[in-house]
Amino acid sequence: MKTTTMPRPDLTDREGIVLLVNGFYERIRADDQLGPIFSDVAKVDWDSHLPRMYDFWDTVMFRSGTFRGNPLTAHAKLAPHTDMSRAKFDHWLTLFRETVAALFEGENAEHIVRCAEDMANVLHSKINNSRDQRFDPANLSDEQRQRYAAHKSPSGSR
Ligand code: HEM
Repeated sequence: MKTTTMPRPDLTDREGIVLLVNGFYERIRADDQLGPIFSDVAKVDWDSHLPRMYDFWDTVMFRSGTFRGNPLTAHAKLAPHTDMSRAKFDHWLTLFRETVAALFEGENAEHIVRCAEDMANVLHSKINNSRDQRFDPANLSDEQRQRYAAHKSPSGSR
């Protein structure tokens, strides 16, 4: 079967961030699993949440420095009231990837997905107070161990 995909631009500026964030939270609001966490548990005020998320991603991607917030605290507050398991974060990431792929393609589009994945890993392991298996030093491969050691000590003088 032949599938054709329209060429898409890369994500290059705040205007793109606004499109992405709006599209992403449209999906979130319509989602059975995640929608209620925003509407019923956190009772999010969308008029302030959306601009805060523009600032967050603009700061991550383009160093605008406009984000003032504390994502760790914001998510840790949710954990006693709702399921913030790995499955929830994975589902969040699926919606995020789908939104990015529908709008953009290119280096920055790939980079923002990796940033979201890293952030999901950090948030999940911190708020659940558990180590993500993938980053547990006990589970690193020999190759990773050497690479990380080389990174910490670039001169190799340790
Ligand atoms: C299970 C997955 C997630 C859920 C259910 C979730 C839910 C929420 C909710 C309800 C808020 C609003 C809190 C409030 O205003 O009181 C929030 C804020 C926020 N979320 Fe998430 N989130 C998830 C994952 C993520 C991930 C992976 C990222 C980053 C890539 C992220 C970034 C943020 C940021 C930057 C804020 C604003 C924090 C602040 O105001 O300081 N979230 N999230």
